Amino acid sequence: MSSATSQTPQREAFGSRNVFILSAIGSAVGLGNIWRFPYVAYEGGGGAFLIPYLCALLTAGIPLLFFDYAIGHRFRGSAPLAFRRLHRRAEPLGWWQVLICVVIAAYYAVIIAWAGMYTWFSAQLTWGPGNENDFFFTDFLQMADVAEAGLSTAFVPQVGIPLAVVWVVVIVIMGLGVKRGIGRANMILMPLLTVMFAILVVQSLFLPGALDGLNAFFTPNWEALADPAVWASAYGHIFFSLSVAFGIMVTYASYLKRKTDLTGSGLVVAFANSGFEILAGIGVFAALGFMAQAQGTEVSGVASSGIGLAFIAFPTIVSQATGGSIIGVLFFGALVFAGVTSLISILEVIVAALQDKLGWGRIRTTLIVSIPLAVISMALFSTTTALAVLDTTDAFVNAFGIMAVALVAVIVVAWLLRRLPALREHLNRRSSFGVGRFWMLLVGALAPLVLGYLFVSELISKLSEPYGGYPSWFLGVFGWGMVIALVILAVLLSLLPWGGRSHAKDDPDYDAFLASEHYDADPETTATPVVGGEQRGAGA
Ligand code: ALA
Repeated sequence: MSSATSQTPQREAFGSRNVFILSAIGSAVGLGNIWRFPYVAYEGGGGAFLIPYLCALLTAGIPLLFFDYAIGHRFRGSAPLAFRRLHRRAEPLGWWQVLICVVIAAYYAVIIAWAGMYTWFSAQLTWGPGNENDFFFTDFLQMADVAEAGLSTAFVPQVGIPLAVVWVVVIVIMGLGVKRGIGRANMILMPLLTVMFAILVVQSLFLPGALDGLNAFFTPNWEALADPAVWASAYGHIFFSLSVAFGIMVTYASYLKRKTDLTGSGLVVAFANSGFEILAGIGVFAALGFMAQAQGTEVSGVASSGIGLAFIAFPTIVSQATGGSIIGVLFFGALVFAGVTSLISILEVIVAALQDKLGWGRIRTTLIVSIPLAVISMALFSTTTALAVLDTTDAFVNAFGIMAVALVAVIVVAWLLRRLPALREHLNRRSSFGVGRFWMLLVGALAPLVLGYLFVSELISKLSEPYGGYPSWFLGVFGWGMVIALVILAVLLSLLPWGGRSHAKDDPDYDAFLASEHYDADPETTATPVVGGEQRGAGA
Protein backbone atom coordinates (compact mmCIF):
# COMPACT_ATOMS: atom_id res chain seq x y z
CA MET A 1 0.00 0.00 0.00
CA SER A 2 1.32 3.43 -0.78
CA SER A 3 2.88 5.72 1.75
CA ALA A 4 0.02 8.17 1.37
CA THR A 5 -2.57 5.71 2.62
CA SER A 6 -2.96 7.43 5.95
CA GLN A 7 -3.34 10.89 4.38
CA THR A 8 -5.82 10.20 1.64
CA PRO A 9 -9.39 11.14 2.50
CA GLN A 10 -11.80 8.22 2.38
CA ARG A 11 -14.22 8.56 -0.53
CA GLU A 12 -17.77 9.14 0.61
CA ALA A 13 -20.54 6.69 -0.20
CA PHE A 14 -24.32 6.44 -0.13
CA GLY A 15 -25.62 4.43 2.84
CA SER A 16 -27.25 1.82 0.61
CA ARG A 17 -28.31 1.12 -2.94
CA ASN A 18 -31.83 2.27 -2.10
CA VAL A 19 -30.54 5.65 -0.93
CA PHE A 20 -28.58 5.92 -4.16
CA ILE A 21 -31.68 5.09 -6.22
CA LEU A 22 -33.79 7.61 -4.29
CA SER A 23 -31.11 10.28 -4.70
CA ALA A 24 -30.76 9.56 -8.42
CA ILE A 25 -34.55 9.82 -8.80
CA GLY A 26 -34.40 13.01 -6.71
CA SER A 27 -31.88 14.41 -9.17
CA ALA A 28 -33.83 13.35 -12.24
CA VAL A 29 -37.24 14.52 -11.03
CA GLY A 30 -36.88 18.27 -11.07
CA LEU A 31 -38.21 21.45 -12.56
CA GLY A 32 -37.91 19.82 -15.98
CA ASN A 33 -40.56 17.21 -15.11
CA ILE A 34 -43.17 19.43 -13.55
CA TRP A 35 -43.27 22.57 -15.61
CA ARG A 36 -41.39 21.70 -18.79
CA PHE A 37 -42.53 18.22 -19.82
CA PRO A 38 -46.29 18.91 -19.98
CA TYR A 39 -45.79 21.76 -22.39
CA VAL A 40 -43.10 20.06 -24.50
CA ALA A 41 -45.41 17.04 -24.83
CA TYR A 42 -48.42 19.15 -25.72
CA GLU A 43 -46.46 21.14 -28.33
CA GLY A 44 -45.02 17.95 -29.74
CA GLY A 45 -48.33 16.40 -30.70
CA GLY A 46 -49.99 15.47 -27.38
CA GLY A 47 -50.51 11.70 -27.15
CA ALA A 48 -48.43 11.14 -30.28
CA PHE A 49 -45.45 12.76 -28.52
CA LEU A 50 -45.20 9.67 -26.37
CA ILE A 51 -43.73 7.87 -29.41
CA PRO A 52 -40.68 10.15 -29.92
CA TYR A 53 -40.45 10.47 -26.14
CA LEU A 54 -40.26 6.71 -25.61
CA CYS A 55 -37.85 6.34 -28.54
CA ALA A 56 -35.61 9.04 -27.02
CA LEU A 57 -35.80 7.38 -23.61
CA LEU A 58 -35.01 3.89 -24.88
CA THR A 59 -32.44 4.70 -27.56
CA ALA A 60 -30.57 7.59 -25.91
CA GLY A 61 -31.73 8.35 -22.35
CA ILE A 62 -31.31 4.91 -20.79
CA PRO A 63 -28.21 3.88 -22.82
CA LEU A 64 -26.45 7.13 -21.86
CA LEU A 65 -27.58 6.76 -18.26
CA PHE A 66 -25.82 3.36 -18.25
CA PHE A 67 -22.81 5.00 -19.93
CA ASP A 68 -22.60 7.59 -17.11
CA TYR A 69 -23.07 4.92 -14.42
CA ALA A 70 -20.37 2.75 -15.97
CA ILE A 71 -17.84 5.62 -16.09
CA GLY A 72 -18.62 6.85 -12.55
CA HIS A 73 -18.65 3.40 -10.97
CA ARG A 74 -15.71 1.90 -12.86
CA PHE A 75 -13.44 4.92 -12.35
CA ARG A 76 -14.85 5.91 -8.96
CA GLY A 77 -14.42 9.63 -9.21
CA SER A 78 -16.04 12.99 -9.84
CA ALA A 79 -16.47 13.74 -13.55
CA PRO A 80 -12.92 15.16 -14.13
CA LEU A 81 -11.25 12.37 -12.16
CA ALA A 82 -13.33 9.60 -13.75
CA PHE A 83 -12.62 10.90 -17.26
CA ARG A 84 -8.96 11.33 -16.36
CA ARG A 85 -8.71 7.75 -15.16
CA LEU A 86 -10.35 6.72 -18.42
CA HIS A 87 -7.68 8.62 -20.30
CA ARG A 88 -5.47 11.47 -19.17
CA ARG A 89 -6.51 13.67 -22.08
CA ALA A 90 -10.20 13.11 -21.46
CA GLU A 91 -10.10 15.19 -18.25
CA PRO A 92 -11.43 18.40 -19.94
CA LEU A 93 -14.69 16.54 -20.67
CA GLY A 94 -15.24 16.23 -16.94
CA TRP A 95 -14.49 19.91 -16.32
CA TRP A 96 -16.81 20.89 -19.16
CA GLN A 97 -19.59 19.01 -17.35
CA VAL A 98 -18.64 20.69 -14.06
CA LEU A 99 -18.84 24.14 -15.63
CA ILE A 100 -22.21 23.35 -17.22
CA CYS A 101 -23.38 22.55 -13.69
CA VAL A 102 -22.05 25.92 -12.46
CA VAL A 103 -24.24 27.72 -15.00
CA ILE A 104 -27.32 25.55 -14.38
CA ALA A 105 -27.00 25.82 -10.58
CA ALA A 106 -26.91 29.62 -10.75
CA TYR A 107 -30.29 29.89 -12.50
CA TYR A 108 -31.92 26.71 -11.16
CA ALA A 109 -31.75 28.16 -7.63
CA VAL A 110 -33.74 31.24 -8.58
CA ILE A 111 -36.65 29.21 -10.02
CA ILE A 112 -36.80 27.36 -6.70
CA ALA A 113 -36.84 30.74 -4.95
CA TRP A 114 -39.76 31.93 -7.12
CA ALA A 115 -41.62 28.69 -6.42
CA GLY A 116 -40.98 29.17 -2.69
CA MET A 117 -42.51 32.65 -2.82
CA TYR A 118 -45.44 31.40 -4.90
CA THR A 119 -46.15 28.70 -2.29
CA TRP A 120 -46.63 31.55 0.18
CA PHE A 121 -48.56 33.73 -2.31
CA SER A 122 -50.90 30.80 -3.09
CA ALA A 123 -51.89 30.53 0.53
CA GLN A 124 -52.75 34.27 0.57
CA LEU A 125 -53.99 34.58 -3.06
CA THR A 126 -51.68 37.60 -3.17
CA TRP A 127 -51.94 38.30 -6.91
CA GLY A 128 -55.68 39.04 -7.02
CA PRO A 129 -58.01 37.46 -9.59
CA GLY A 130 -57.30 38.31 -13.24
CA ASN A 131 -53.98 39.95 -12.40
CA GLU A 132 -51.71 36.88 -12.56
CA ASN A 133 -49.70 37.97 -15.61
CA ASP A 134 -48.97 41.50 -14.41
CA PHE A 135 -48.33 40.28 -10.91
CA PHE A 136 -45.60 37.90 -12.08
CA PHE A 137 -43.79 40.15 -14.53
CA THR A 138 -44.35 43.59 -13.05
CA ASP A 139 -45.03 43.30 -9.32
CA PHE A 140 -42.95 40.23 -8.52
CA LEU A 141 -40.02 40.20 -10.99
CA GLN A 142 -40.17 43.97 -11.68
CA MET A 143 -39.00 42.98 -15.13
CA ALA A 144 -37.03 45.44 -17.26
CA ASP A 145 -36.21 45.14 -20.96
CA VAL A 146 -32.48 44.46 -21.53
CA ALA A 147 -32.70 46.02 -24.99
CA GLU A 148 -33.69 49.34 -23.39
CA ALA A 149 -32.19 49.25 -19.92
CA GLY A 150 -29.04 47.16 -20.49
CA LEU A 151 -27.99 44.76 -17.75
CA SER A 152 -29.61 45.93 -14.55
CA THR A 153 -28.12 45.96 -11.08
CA ALA A 154 -31.40 46.97 -9.42
CA PHE A 155 -31.99 44.49 -6.59
CA VAL A 156 -35.45 42.90 -6.32
CA PRO A 157 -35.76 41.95 -2.62
CA GLN A 158 -38.75 39.61 -2.95
CA VAL A 159 -36.59 37.47 -5.27
CA GLY A 160 -33.16 38.09 -3.69
CA ILE A 161 -34.13 37.21 -0.11
CA PRO A 162 -35.73 33.80 -0.86
CA LEU A 163 -32.84 33.11 -3.24
CA ALA A 164 -30.41 33.67 -0.35
CA VAL A 165 -32.51 31.26 1.75
CA VAL A 166 -32.35 28.59 -0.99
CA TRP A 167 -28.57 28.91 -1.05
CA VAL A 168 -28.26 28.65 2.73
CA VAL A 169 -30.42 25.49 2.74
CA VAL A 170 -28.47 23.76 -0.02
CA ILE A 171 -25.10 24.81 1.44
CA VAL A 172 -26.07 23.18 4.76
CA ILE A 173 -27.16 19.96 2.97
CA MET A 174 -23.98 19.89 0.87
CA GLY A 175 -21.75 20.59 3.89
CA LEU A 176 -23.19 17.54 5.68
CA GLY A 177 -21.81 15.30 2.94
CA VAL A 178 -23.11 12.54 0.71
CA LYS A 179 -24.55 10.22 3.33
CA ARG A 180 -25.75 12.61 6.02
CA GLY A 181 -26.64 15.52 3.72
CA ILE A 182 -27.63 14.44 0.21
CA GLY A 183 -28.83 10.93 1.10
CA ARG A 184 -30.86 12.10 4.09
CA ALA A 185 -32.37 15.11 2.28
CA ASN A 186 -33.61 12.78 -0.47
CA MET A 187 -34.95 10.26 2.06
CA ILE A 188 -37.09 13.04 3.54
CA LEU A 189 -38.02 15.15 0.52
CA MET A 190 -38.75 12.47 -2.08
CA PRO A 191 -41.54 10.67 -0.16
CA LEU A 192 -43.03 14.10 0.72
CA LEU A 193 -42.85 15.17 -2.92
CA THR A 194 -44.52 11.96 -4.09
CA VAL A 195 -47.39 12.30 -1.63
CA MET A 196 -47.91 15.99 -2.42
CA PHE A 197 -47.87 15.34 -6.11
CA ALA A 198 -50.26 12.41 -5.90
CA ILE A 199 -52.77 14.54 -3.94
CA LEU A 200 -52.35 17.37 -6.48
CA VAL A 201 -53.00 15.09 -9.45
CA VAL A 202 -56.08 13.50 -7.85
CA GLN A 203 -57.43 16.93 -6.88
CA SER A 204 -56.86 18.23 -10.43
CA LEU A 205 -58.68 15.24 -11.91
CA PHE A 206 -61.81 16.15 -9.95
CA LEU A 207 -61.91 19.75 -11.24
CA PRO A 208 -64.72 20.52 -13.69
CA GLY A 209 -63.32 20.43 -17.25
CA ALA A 210 -60.42 18.15 -16.29
CA LEU A 211 -61.42 15.67 -18.98
CA ASP A 212 -61.10 18.34 -21.71
CA GLY A 213 -57.55 18.98 -20.53
CA LEU A 214 -56.70 15.28 -20.63
CA ASN A 215 -58.24 15.01 -24.10
CA ALA A 216 -56.06 17.88 -25.29
CA PHE A 217 -52.99 16.27 -23.73
CA PHE A 218 -53.55 12.73 -24.95
CA THR A 219 -55.31 13.19 -28.32
CA PRO A 220 -52.56 12.31 -30.78
CA ASN A 221 -51.66 14.73 -33.51
CA TRP A 222 -49.95 12.24 -35.82
CA GLU A 223 -48.78 14.94 -38.22
CA ALA A 224 -46.44 16.24 -35.52
CA LEU A 225 -44.43 13.01 -35.87
CA ALA A 226 -43.35 14.05 -39.36
CA ASP A 227 -41.74 17.19 -37.92
CA PRO A 228 -38.02 16.67 -37.08
CA ALA A 229 -38.25 19.49 -34.50
CA VAL A 230 -40.62 17.34 -32.43
CA TRP A 231 -38.10 14.50 -32.35
CA ALA A 232 -35.36 16.99 -31.51
CA SER A 233 -37.35 18.34 -28.57
CA ALA A 234 -38.00 14.79 -27.28
CA TYR A 235 -34.27 13.98 -27.35
CA GLY A 236 -33.32 17.38 -25.95
CA HIS A 237 -35.79 17.02 -23.11
CA ILE A 238 -34.72 13.52 -22.07
CA PHE A 239 -31.10 14.52 -21.33
CA PHE A 240 -32.04 17.35 -19.00
CA SER A 241 -34.83 15.36 -17.42
CA LEU A 242 -32.80 12.22 -16.71
CA SER A 243 -29.79 14.30 -15.55
CA VAL A 244 -27.51 12.54 -18.04
CA ALA A 245 -24.42 13.98 -19.72
CA PHE A 246 -23.69 16.73 -17.23
CA GLY A 247 -21.72 14.82 -14.66
CA ILE A 248 -24.45 14.10 -12.12
CA MET A 249 -24.86 10.39 -12.71
CA VAL A 250 -21.09 9.91 -13.07
CA THR A 251 -20.59 11.53 -9.66
CA TYR A 252 -23.49 9.76 -7.92
CA ALA A 253 -22.45 6.35 -9.32
CA SER A 254 -18.96 6.92 -7.89
CA TYR A 255 -20.53 6.84 -4.40
CA LEU A 256 -22.08 3.41 -4.93
CA LYS A 257 -20.76 0.37 -3.14
CA ARG A 258 -18.43 -1.77 -5.25
CA LYS A 259 -20.76 -4.70 -5.71
CA THR A 260 -23.94 -3.27 -7.06
CA ASP A 261 -26.58 -3.79 -9.72
CA LEU A 262 -25.98 -0.85 -12.07
CA THR A 263 -28.39 -1.56 -14.91
CA GLY A 264 -31.24 -2.59 -12.60
CA SER A 265 -30.84 0.65 -10.63
CA GLY A 266 -30.72 2.64 -13.85
CA LEU A 267 -33.99 1.20 -15.08
CA VAL A 268 -35.72 1.99 -11.79
CA VAL A 269 -34.48 5.59 -11.98
CA ALA A 270 -35.42 6.05 -15.64
CA PHE A 271 -38.92 4.65 -15.31
CA ALA A 272 -39.60 6.48 -12.05
CA ASN A 273 -38.56 9.72 -13.75
CA SER A 274 -40.79 9.10 -16.76
CA GLY A 275 -43.68 7.97 -14.57
CA PHE A 276 -43.42 11.20 -12.62
CA GLU A 277 -43.23 13.19 -15.80
CA ILE A 278 -46.33 11.64 -17.31
CA LEU A 279 -48.17 12.07 -14.02
CA ALA A 280 -47.17 15.74 -14.11
CA GLY A 281 -48.60 16.01 -17.62
CA ILE A 282 -51.89 14.51 -16.45
CA GLY A 283 -52.11 16.79 -13.41
CA VAL A 284 -51.15 19.97 -15.24
CA PHE A 285 -53.49 19.37 -18.19
CA ALA A 286 -56.43 18.39 -15.99
CA ALA A 287 -55.94 21.76 -14.27
CA LEU A 288 -55.62 23.56 -17.63
CA GLY A 289 -58.86 21.89 -18.78
CA PHE A 290 -60.55 23.44 -15.77
CA MET A 291 -59.03 26.83 -16.54
CA ALA A 292 -60.15 26.68 -20.18
CA GLN A 293 -63.70 25.79 -19.15
CA ALA A 294 -63.80 28.58 -16.56
CA GLN A 295 -62.69 31.10 -19.20
CA GLY A 296 -64.95 29.65 -21.92
CA THR A 297 -62.00 28.97 -24.23
CA GLU A 298 -60.01 26.05 -25.71
CA VAL A 299 -57.19 24.32 -23.79
CA SER A 300 -54.82 25.43 -26.57
CA GLY A 301 -55.57 29.02 -25.59
CA VAL A 302 -54.42 28.56 -22.00
CA ALA A 303 -51.49 26.14 -22.40
CA SER A 304 -48.37 28.26 -22.40
CA SER A 305 -44.67 27.56 -22.18
CA GLY A 306 -42.43 26.80 -19.17
CA ILE A 307 -42.35 29.85 -16.95
CA GLY A 308 -45.77 30.98 -18.13
CA LEU A 309 -47.38 27.65 -17.36
CA ALA A 310 -46.13 27.52 -13.80
CA PHE A 311 -46.23 31.15 -12.76
CA ILE A 312 -49.19 32.51 -14.72
CA ALA A 313 -51.54 29.66 -15.68
CA PHE A 314 -51.26 27.92 -12.32
CA PRO A 315 -51.92 31.05 -10.24
CA THR A 316 -54.99 31.63 -12.46
CA ILE A 317 -56.22 28.13 -11.60
CA VAL A 318 -55.50 28.81 -7.92
CA SER A 319 -57.67 31.96 -8.11
CA GLN A 320 -60.56 30.22 -9.85
CA ALA A 321 -60.81 26.73 -8.34
CA THR A 322 -62.55 25.86 -5.09
CA GLY A 323 -59.73 24.98 -2.70
CA GLY A 324 -57.36 26.75 -5.08
CA SER A 325 -54.95 27.71 -2.32
CA ILE A 326 -54.37 24.04 -1.52
CA ILE A 327 -53.68 23.30 -5.20
CA GLY A 328 -51.22 26.21 -5.29
CA VAL A 329 -49.40 25.22 -2.11
CA LEU A 330 -49.11 21.61 -3.32
CA PHE A 331 -47.95 22.59 -6.81
CA PHE A 332 -45.38 25.20 -5.81
CA GLY A 333 -44.30 23.20 -2.75
CA ALA A 334 -43.71 20.21 -5.05
CA LEU A 335 -41.65 22.43 -7.37
CA VAL A 336 -39.50 23.54 -4.41
CA PHE A 337 -38.87 19.98 -3.18
CA ALA A 338 -38.23 18.60 -6.68
CA GLY A 339 -35.95 21.56 -7.37
CA VAL A 340 -33.90 21.25 -4.17
CA THR A 341 -33.20 17.51 -4.68
CA SER A 342 -32.02 18.27 -8.22
CA LEU A 343 -30.00 21.36 -7.26
CA ILE A 344 -27.99 19.45 -4.66
CA SER A 345 -27.09 16.86 -7.30
CA ILE A 346 -25.96 19.63 -9.66
CA LEU A 347 -23.82 21.19 -6.90
CA GLU A 348 -22.36 17.81 -5.96
CA VAL A 349 -20.77 17.60 -9.43
CA ILE A 350 -18.83 20.80 -8.67
CA VAL A 351 -17.99 20.06 -5.03
CA ALA A 352 -16.83 16.50 -5.77
CA ALA A 353 -14.64 17.69 -8.66
CA LEU A 354 -12.79 20.24 -6.53
CA GLN A 355 -12.51 17.85 -3.61
CA ASP A 356 -10.86 15.31 -5.89
CA LYS A 357 -8.64 17.80 -7.69
CA LEU A 358 -7.40 19.70 -4.66
CA GLY A 359 -7.76 17.09 -1.93
CA TRP A 360 -9.72 19.48 0.31
CA GLY A 361 -12.20 18.46 2.99
CA ARG A 362 -15.96 18.48 2.49
CA ILE A 363 -16.92 21.64 4.39
CA ARG A 364 -14.08 23.72 3.06
CA THR A 365 -14.83 22.73 -0.54
CA THR A 366 -18.58 23.26 -0.10
CA LEU A 367 -18.05 26.79 1.21
CA ILE A 368 -15.39 27.72 -1.36
CA VAL A 369 -17.64 26.48 -4.19
CA SER A 370 -21.05 27.56 -2.97
CA ILE A 371 -20.51 31.03 -1.54
CA PRO A 372 -19.09 32.61 -4.75
CA LEU A 373 -21.69 30.70 -6.78
CA ALA A 374 -24.47 32.00 -4.52
CA VAL A 375 -23.12 35.55 -4.93
CA ILE A 376 -23.04 35.23 -8.75
CA SER A 377 -26.51 33.68 -8.74
CA MET A 378 -27.85 36.54 -6.62
CA ALA A 379 -26.06 39.21 -8.65
CA LEU A 380 -27.48 37.94 -11.94
CA PHE A 381 -30.88 36.59 -10.93
CA SER A 382 -32.26 38.90 -8.28
CA THR A 383 -32.23 41.94 -10.54
CA THR A 384 -34.86 43.29 -12.92
CA THR A 385 -33.20 41.69 -15.98
CA ALA A 386 -33.00 38.20 -14.42
CA LEU A 387 -35.58 36.62 -16.72
CA ALA A 388 -33.68 37.49 -19.91
CA VAL A 389 -30.40 36.15 -18.46
CA LEU A 390 -32.14 32.97 -17.28
CA ASP A 391 -33.90 32.36 -20.58
CA THR A 392 -30.71 32.86 -22.60
CA THR A 393 -28.29 30.89 -20.42
CA ASP A 394 -30.80 28.01 -20.17
CA ALA A 395 -31.33 27.82 -23.94
CA PHE A 396 -27.61 27.99 -24.77
CA VAL A 397 -26.31 25.72 -22.02
CA ASN A 398 -28.81 23.02 -23.02
CA ALA A 399 -28.03 23.12 -26.72
CA PHE A 400 -24.32 23.89 -26.70
CA GLY A 401 -23.45 22.58 -23.28
CA ILE A 402 -25.29 19.38 -22.38
CA MET A 403 -25.91 18.16 -25.91
CA ALA A 404 -22.46 19.21 -27.12
CA VAL A 405 -20.58 17.54 -24.27
CA ALA A 406 -22.67 14.38 -24.70
CA LEU A 407 -21.77 14.32 -28.40
CA VAL A 408 -18.05 14.83 -27.77
CA ALA A 409 -17.99 12.33 -24.88
CA VAL A 410 -19.54 9.48 -26.88
CA ILE A 411 -17.25 10.17 -29.84
CA VAL A 412 -14.14 10.26 -27.62
CA VAL A 413 -15.02 7.20 -25.52
CA ALA A 414 -16.50 5.06 -28.29
CA TRP A 415 -14.39 5.97 -31.29
CA LEU A 416 -11.11 7.52 -30.16
CA LEU A 417 -10.46 5.54 -26.98
CA ARG A 418 -12.58 2.50 -27.93
CA ARG A 419 -13.55 1.87 -24.31
CA LEU A 420 -17.19 0.85 -24.81
CA PRO A 421 -16.43 -2.91 -24.61
CA ALA A 422 -14.65 -2.39 -21.25
CA LEU A 423 -17.54 -0.26 -19.92
CA ARG A 424 -20.02 -2.87 -21.10
CA GLU A 425 -18.02 -5.55 -19.33
CA HIS A 426 -18.12 -3.51 -16.12
CA LEU A 427 -21.89 -2.97 -16.37
CA ASN A 428 -22.45 -6.67 -16.91
CA ARG A 429 -20.33 -7.88 -13.99
CA ARG A 430 -23.00 -7.63 -11.34
CA SER A 431 -26.08 -6.29 -12.99
CA SER A 432 -29.40 -8.08 -12.94
CA PHE A 433 -29.53 -7.98 -16.70
CA GLY A 434 -26.65 -7.58 -19.09
CA VAL A 435 -26.29 -5.05 -21.87
CA GLY A 436 -25.34 -6.48 -25.24
CA ARG A 437 -23.65 -5.19 -28.35
CA PHE A 438 -26.86 -3.37 -29.08
CA TRP A 439 -26.05 -0.98 -26.21
CA MET A 440 -22.69 -0.21 -27.81
CA LEU A 441 -24.44 0.41 -31.10
CA LEU A 442 -26.88 2.84 -29.48
CA VAL A 443 -24.17 4.74 -27.57
CA GLY A 444 -21.47 4.58 -30.24
CA ALA A 445 -23.51 5.06 -33.40
CA LEU A 446 -27.09 6.19 -32.90
CA ALA A 447 -26.37 8.70 -30.10
CA PRO A 448 -23.64 10.57 -32.05
CA LEU A 449 -25.89 10.70 -35.13
CA VAL A 450 -28.90 12.06 -33.25
CA LEU A 451 -26.83 14.43 -31.12
CA GLY A 452 -24.87 15.62 -34.16
CA TYR A 453 -28.11 16.36 -35.99
CA LEU A 454 -29.56 18.20 -32.98
CA PHE A 455 -26.37 20.19 -32.52
CA VAL A 456 -26.23 21.32 -36.15
CA SER A 457 -29.93 22.19 -36.29
CA GLU A 458 -29.66 24.20 -33.05
CA LEU A 459 -26.59 25.98 -34.42
CA ILE A 460 -28.40 26.92 -37.63
CA SER A 461 -31.49 28.08 -35.80
CA LYS A 462 -29.59 30.19 -33.23
CA LEU A 463 -27.33 31.70 -35.89
CA SER A 464 -30.14 32.49 -38.32
CA GLU A 465 -32.04 34.80 -36.00
CA PRO A 466 -31.11 36.37 -32.65
CA TYR A 467 -32.43 34.08 -29.89
CA GLY A 468 -35.49 35.53 -28.15
CA GLY A 469 -35.00 38.82 -30.02
CA TYR A 470 -32.36 39.86 -27.46
CA PRO A 471 -29.67 42.41 -28.47
CA SER A 472 -26.49 40.97 -29.97
CA TRP A 473 -24.18 42.22 -27.16
CA PHE A 474 -26.40 40.37 -24.69
CA LEU A 475 -26.40 37.10 -26.66
CA GLY A 476 -22.65 37.55 -27.15
CA VAL A 477 -22.08 37.57 -23.39
CA PHE A 478 -24.73 35.21 -21.93
CA GLY A 479 -25.17 32.95 -24.97
CA TRP A 480 -22.23 32.43 -27.30
CA GLY A 481 -19.61 33.96 -24.98
CA MET A 482 -20.70 31.78 -22.08
CA VAL A 483 -20.68 28.48 -24.01
CA ILE A 484 -17.28 29.19 -25.59
CA ALA A 485 -15.84 30.27 -22.23
CA LEU A 486 -16.95 26.94 -20.72
CA VAL A 487 -14.85 24.98 -23.21
CA ILE A 488 -11.75 27.17 -22.78
CA LEU A 489 -12.01 27.10 -18.98
CA ALA A 490 -12.49 23.32 -19.03
CA VAL A 491 -9.19 22.88 -20.86
CA LEU A 492 -7.41 25.31 -18.53
CA LEU A 493 -8.73 23.56 -15.40
CA SER A 494 -7.51 20.22 -16.71
CA LEU A 495 -4.01 21.72 -17.02
CA LEU A 496 -3.85 22.64 -13.32
CA PRO A 497 -1.90 20.12 -11.23
CA TRP A 498 -3.73 17.65 -8.99
CA GLY A 499 -2.79 18.95 -5.58
CA GLY A 500 -2.88 18.25 -1.86
CA ARG A 501 -4.29 15.00 -0.56
CA SER A 502 -5.77 14.23 -3.93
CA HIS A 503 -7.69 11.14 -4.93
CA ALA A 504 -5.87 11.20 -8.24
CA LYS A 505 -2.51 10.67 -6.63
CA ASP A 506 -2.94 8.00 -4.04
CA ASP A 507 -6.27 6.41 -3.45
CA PRO A 508 -6.21 3.21 -1.43
CA ASP A 509 -9.96 2.83 -1.87
CA TYR A 510 -9.56 2.86 -5.64
CA ASP A 511 -6.56 0.55 -5.49
CA ALA A 512 -8.56 -1.92 -3.41
CA PHE A 513 -11.44 -1.67 -5.85
CA LEU A 514 -9.16 -2.40 -8.83
CA ALA A 515 -7.59 -5.31 -7.00
CA SER A 516 -10.93 -6.80 -5.94
CA GLU A 517 -12.23 -6.60 -9.51
CA HIS A 518 -8.93 -7.92 -10.94
CA TYR A 519 -8.68 -4.79 -13.07
CA ASP A 520 -5.30 -3.56 -14.25
CA ALA A 521 -4.27 -0.17 -12.96
CA ASP A 522 -5.11 2.85 -15.08
CA PRO A 523 -1.72 3.87 -16.44
CA GLU A 524 -2.80 7.47 -16.91
CA THR A 525 -3.21 8.72 -13.41
CA THR A 526 -1.51 7.02 -10.56
CA ALA A 527 1.96 6.17 -9.39
CA THR A 528 1.32 3.47 -6.86
CA PRO A 529 2.55 -0.13 -6.75
CA VAL A 530 1.58 -3.30 -8.53
CA VAL A 531 -2.12 -4.15 -8.71
CA GLY A 532 -3.54 -7.15 -10.55
CA GLY A 533 -0.12 -8.08 -11.86
CA GLU A 534 0.44 -4.86 -13.85
CA GLN A 535 3.03 -2.19 -13.10
CA ARG A 536 1.48 1.25 -12.84
CA GLY A 537 2.78 4.03 -14.98
CA ALA A 538 3.85 7.35 -13.56
CA GLY A 539 1.66 10.34 -13.90
CA ALA A 540 -0.69 12.77 -12.26
N1 ALA B 1 -33.18 16.47 -14.09
C1 ALA B 1 -33.44 17.72 -13.49
C2 ALA B 1 -34.70 18.34 -13.98
O1 ALA B 1 -35.49 17.70 -14.63
C3 ALA B 1 -32.26 18.63 -13.66
O2 ALA B 1 -34.98 19.45 -13.72
